[in-house]
Amino acid sequence: MIDSEQYRVTREPYYRPVGDEVRLFEAAYAARMPVMLKGPTGCGKTRFVEYMAFKLGRPLITVACNEDMSASDLVGRFLLDANGTRWQDGPLTTAARIGAICYLDEVVEARQDTTVVIHPLTDHRRTLPLDKKGELVSAHPDFQLVISYNPGYQNLLKDLKPSTKQRFGALDFSYPDGAVETEVVAHESGVDVETAAKLVEIAQRARNLKGHGLDEGISTRLLVYAGQLIAKGVEPRAACRMTLVRPLTDDPDMRDTLDAAVATFF
Ligand SMILES: Nc1ncnc2c1ncn2[C@@H]1O[C@H](COP(=O)(O)OP(=O)(O)O)[C@@H](O)[C@H]1O
Ligand SMILES: [Mg+2]
Repeated sequence: MIDSEQYRVTREPYYRPVGDEVRLFEAAYAARMPVMLKGPTGCGKTRFVEYMAFKLGRPLITVACNEDMSASDLVGRFLLDANGTRWQDGPLTTAARIGAICYLDEVVEARQDTTVVIHPLTDHRRTLPLDKKGELVSAHPDFQLVISYNPGYQNLLKDLKPSTKQRFGALDFSYPDGAVETEVVAHESGVDVETAAKLVEIAQRARNLKGHGLDEGISTRLLVYAGQLIAKGVEPRAACRMTLVRPLTDDPDMRDTLDAAVATFF
């Protein structure tokens, strides 16, 4: 027996809805439709899944995908122990058995031959073959598959196969509008609304530099970091340097540009 309680989201995560994503996700879950969350890093995708798992009362199993991951890391493998061999379910198998929401974070990081193991789970079959074990797992009726990916990193070598993509309904995520992002930053970091609004304005300017020397804009996550340092008494310019400028770029000119943007607000 698997203890599904350990995967339960016990406290309501703070999630500030940005559009109609909550209603759409609920409808998708009711249809047990696999869902893909698309958007840049640090814009609230993971927080959203945690919130939805709580709201729907489902356990949540999250897997951070990487290129070294094999199908066995998802599905399971035989282990050797004192008594011989023992099968151990992977996280995807566990989720399918207990009726959890399985969240494959940054799924394009995984190789395509790994990703294809999700195919039979994402169509009418709702099954997961454990080839090595010789078992066909039928997914629990409450099981749902959710994946995230960042279209910004997409290139020809690293993209989902069309046959994988077209198994999901998709929700676009991006940085929330100024008022909402200010609310999130203030809530998550503990700074006052006025300070949070300044941080958001710095980010909005920096996001215009995306593609003009910056690969990615300042994420909501980094704004929360900046707020957390300020709330701990760090001088705002130093806090912004550490969280909004240094992580983003090593280019001295770009750092100057960002530092100047910070200096107009603090
Ligand atoms: N809509 C939102 N509601 C609440 N918090 C948010 C929201 N958007 C972003 N955040 C904050 O930003 C941080 C990063 O979000 P996260 O979900 O980890 O990003 P992603 O998974 O998209 O990389 C969260 O820890 C949270 O503090
Ligand atoms: Mg995430």
